[in-house]
Amino acid sequence: MDSIIVTGGKELSGEIPIAGAKNACLALMPATLLSEEPLTLTNAPRLSDIKTMTELLASLGAEASALADGQVLAMSSHNIDNHVADYEIVRKMRASNLVLGPMLARLGQAVVSLPGGCAIGARPMDLHIQGLTALGAEIELKDGYLHAKAPKGLKGAVYEMGFASVGATENIVMAATLAKGTTVLKNAAREPEIVDLVSCLKKMGAHIDGEGTSTITIEGVDRLHGATHPVVTDRIELGTYMLAPVIAGGEVECIGGRLDLVEAFVEKLDAAGVSVEETARGLKVSRKNGRLSAVDVTTAPFPGFPTDLQAQMMAMLCTADGTSVLEEKIFENRFMHAPELMRMGANIDVQGGKAIVTGVEQLKGAPVMATDLRASVSLILAGLAAKGDTQVNRVYHLDRGYEHLVRKLSGVGAQVERVPGS
Ligand code: UD1
Repeated sequence: MDSIIVTGGKELSGEIPIAGAKNACLALMPATLLSEEPLTLTNAPRLSDIKTMTELLASLGAEASALADGQVLAMSSHNIDNHVADYEIVRKMRASNLVLGPMLARLGQAVVSLPGGCAIGARPMDLHIQGLTALGAEIELKDGYLHAKAPKGLKGAVYEMGFASVGATENIVMAATLAKGTTVLKNAAREPEIVDLVSCLKKMGAHIDGEGTSTITIEGVDRLHGATHPVVTDRIELGTYMLAPVIAGGEVECIGGRLDLVEAFVEKLDAAGVSVEETARGLKVSRKNGRLSAVDVTTAPFPGFPTDLQAQMMAMLCTADGTSVLEEKIFENRFMHAPELMRMGANIDVQGGKAIVTGVEQLKGAPVMATDLRASVSLILAGLAAKGDTQVNRVYHLDRGYEHLVRKLSGVGAQVERVPGS
């Protein structure tokens, strides 16, 4: 397995292009299953998770190909001849479960393996099941698979989610586009990726209102048609690269960055003493002098501080002046990067859902390993300012969520190298 070696101590300067959002793209791709006509996505990120979704769609009978060096995804689902999403594909990525709602709506049946994905908590699917059941689906769990059917078709309903789950919102909204009558989804998730999905579904002819708020209303239609849609900017990739010059020192402009996507995150950067400037092309971030201040961070659903930036923020706080408390409210097991950062000299005390980080002057390079995507990138970030070399193993996690990571970081002056494993 490949690893990445980061040699710390280089100031960064230049620009980093931000890709289309992985999490938006993974919800947009299954939307192709809702229509017989082609769906084309532009600004798609080039990631292994996108390949996995392409493979899954193909296994169901859809045609899906990557064009223009992978940034355009051309899909067509005129001939869906399989309604079973197999464990061998689904286990690689939790977002595979996003084919459940569309298949149920289009075919009246779906069999979907329970997913795998990042090892960051139990991540059940009860909210997806409850929401689709409210729309008239009958769902049972057999042999690790969810068997869902809607023999009489789906019917609009009012459903309030117990927690604003991103994936459940996406599955329920997609299913409701072809249900008979009106669905009102209360306590819906408000993430930009959901707004992006709804914007695409509207181009396909869906009648939806309230996206970006806690109540989404969907009026079912008989059929959806084809569309072309650009994937929204990846706010997690954006936040990650914004932290690179903050941790390493220097100034980087993140091209395509938008403040409205990362407001809660920028508020915390501001409190820590980082300057973020909106430019005509994106967001410019710099840290030229002095040590950062400690800040407390609590993760929350959008518009709160994203759980997917918690590990990277921890990497920054490891060398801030003072003690920060990071509280993880979305996933119960998401501090697996903490012991690895401690191997690099960080002072972190994890107590249940809280991590107390007391800043040290400098981290030291070490061989480290991470067991999920965002944890892996937090170790790369930490390595940028550490003394000596940091070797990050199990790089396949990074390939799931960061396209051309080495190229993007070396482009602004970081010393980063990918080395093939045995
Ligand atoms: C999505 C993102 C992921 C991000 C997460 C939270 C994608 C592909 N992934 O994941 O990167 O970290 O949102 O912002 O978009 N839950 C239940 N029952 C359910 C569903 C969820 O209890 O039926 C719980 C989960 O265990 C977790 C929390 O709700 O603790 C958040 O999950 P959810 O919002 O559904 O995240 P995902 O859609 O899986």
